[in-house]
Amino acid sequence: MCGIVAYVGSKDAAPILLEGLQRLEYRGYDSAGLAIVNKTLRTRKVKGRVADLAAAVPARFKGGVGIGHTRWATHGVPSDVNAHPHVDGAERVAVVHNGIIENADELRAKLTVDGATFTSETDSEVLAHLIARTVKDTDSLEEAVRTALKRVVGTYGIAVLDAERPGEVVVARNGSPIVLGIGEKEMFAASDVAALVRYTRQVVHLEDGELATIKADGFHTFTMDATETAKEPLTVDWDAGHYDTGGYEHYLLKEISEQPETVARTLRGRVDDRFHIAHLGGLNLTPHETRAFRRVKIIGCGSAYYSGQIGAQLVEELARVPADAEPASEFRYRNPVVEHDTLYVAISQSGETYDTLAAVQELKRKGGRVLGIVNTVGSAIARECDGGIYLHAGPEVSVASTKAFTSTAVAFALLALHFGRVHDLSPADGRRICEGLRRLPAQIEEILAKDDEIAGLARKYADHAGMMFIGRVRGYPVAREGAQKLKEISYVHAEAYPASELKHGPLALIGPDMPTVAIVPDDELLDKNLTTLGEIRARGGRVLMVGHRAADPRLADDCVVVPKNETELDPILLTIPLQLLAYHAAVALERDVDKPRNLAKSVTVE
Ligand code: G6P
Repeated sequence: MCGIVAYVGSKDAAPILLEGLQRLEYRGYDSAGLAIVNKTLRTRKVKGRVADLAAAVPARFKGGVGIGHTRWATHGVPSDVNAHPHVDGAERVAVVHNGIIENADELRAKLTVDGATFTSETDSEVLAHLIARTVKDTDSLEEAVRTALKRVVGTYGIAVLDAERPGEVVVARNGSPIVLGIGEKEMFAASDVAALVRYTRQVVHLEDGELATIKADGFHTFTMDATETAKEPLTVDWDAGHYDTGGYEHYLLKEISEQPETVARTLRGRVDDRFHIAHLGGLNLTPHETRAFRRVKIIGCGSAYYSGQIGAQLVEELARVPADAEPASEFRYRNPVVEHDTLYVAISQSGETYDTLAAVQELKRKGGRVLGIVNTVGSAIARECDGGIYLHAGPEVSVASTKAFTSTAVAFALLALHFGRVHDLSPADGRRICEGLRRLPAQIEEILAKDDEIAGLARKYADHAGMMFIGRVRGYPVAREGAQKLKEISYVHAEAYPASELKHGPLALIGPDMPTVAIVPDDELLDKNLTTLGEIRARGGRVLMVGHRAADPRLADDCVVVPKNETELDPILLTIPLQLLAYHAAVALERDVDKPRNLAKSVTVE
């Protein structure tokens, strides 16, 4: 949510900042802006995409220090004026900000009384005015930033430029990530390594409450009370190529297509064929501790939550330990009862989602034991948890989650296998699951080979105003994720229901204009599902069935046949055709597939 990039060095800052912003655009894309120092402060900001900003930057926008921002609006509509950077009245200080300043109204009122004139509706503008007030009275930009931030309540990642100190940028972090990039006689800072990997893979992550000054010849980090901190640079695993579309038309299609490899990476080194167990070194739990948990509670937001529902099902089936999933955004607000014999599992692709992070922090405050299933190594949620499983799915750029969703479900299968084998899952069943897990990558390839067939179906169904997605038990989270994918990228209304609940209300919606995507695996509920299809057809409803065998034409108009795995693992595979269905529907409707309207990849605000 919003992207920050900063540069100090001898090159021209503007092209570097624009390139960085392009890499961050998936985090927010309603407006963008730049500020550089060339004797005076110069800014350019526009409503629209980074490409619109690039077009608006004049050729003679030169200077070797600058900051940039791509925005996802929270306070104030997307507009040129509300775009960042924000500057003070004297045009000395420029600030870009991610996060929310909670006491912005109060600060704004005080600053106005002191003579400040505000031009935007944003909470962020107060930062520029606050810092500008202090910087006049001190010789140090870092001191001015520290002093200003002490008056601020809220979350922030910021980068600050002072026209009077053209050789440095000060950055600070509290709840919104900032990472420094170390170059050769140049330094970078950004809200995400994606903006840096083209220039350097040596990075330093700031902690909450930490600030840094970057100059061409290096950096130093310090706390809010000016104590210096020592930081060890890390080398980023991913290079710039991992952030490219790699010849695909969209990141989403690239990420869907990568799944045989990303699932293999999630599994690598973790399936033990000798004892039919999972090796999960990062859990930090002894078998004794594992056995002591009587319940598993899973939290996450959006697709992470739906993958948690698949996870809960897997844990109950394989370990016979009660498990359920809940949106982290709800959990954190309902003063949850935290039990010492419940294992909490937080899921997040980005590792930054604010609601999930806040839920983890609440759990920790109450003494809960929390594992993280996270894609981004070293992210805030990963660091906050007591242990966990990294997905190793690689950077996910498209706003709609696909490969991280699948890898999370696979990680849960490993966790459930581990739990199961500590409890009562027999070696024979353990072996069955291990073998099933190993079959997944090749079976995903088989599904991806149906791309043309699914694209044809997507075109056939895309022009409906709404679609129903149904599934029973294991199929229900699959239906929910399928509906989520369709609505977020194609804007077609999609509703997911348990197939068993259809006749208790939503059947009233069924008719020729409301087709149903039915998840019908070959499991013990097959007959029940087929009965539901009969009920839909009897009301004139059209059915697209996703299952393991060709459909009886009396029960379904169309069918996507998916390879069968072990029953417990089938939901992982059944989701893949729904990703392709949503993708091709969005393409057919000419939507902005990777950057759907109103959404952002990482929601780092409440
Ligand atoms: C946003 C994204 C979703 C994602 C959710 C959780 O809402 O648009 O695609 O599932 O955040 O993100 P996380 O990074 O925590 O998995």
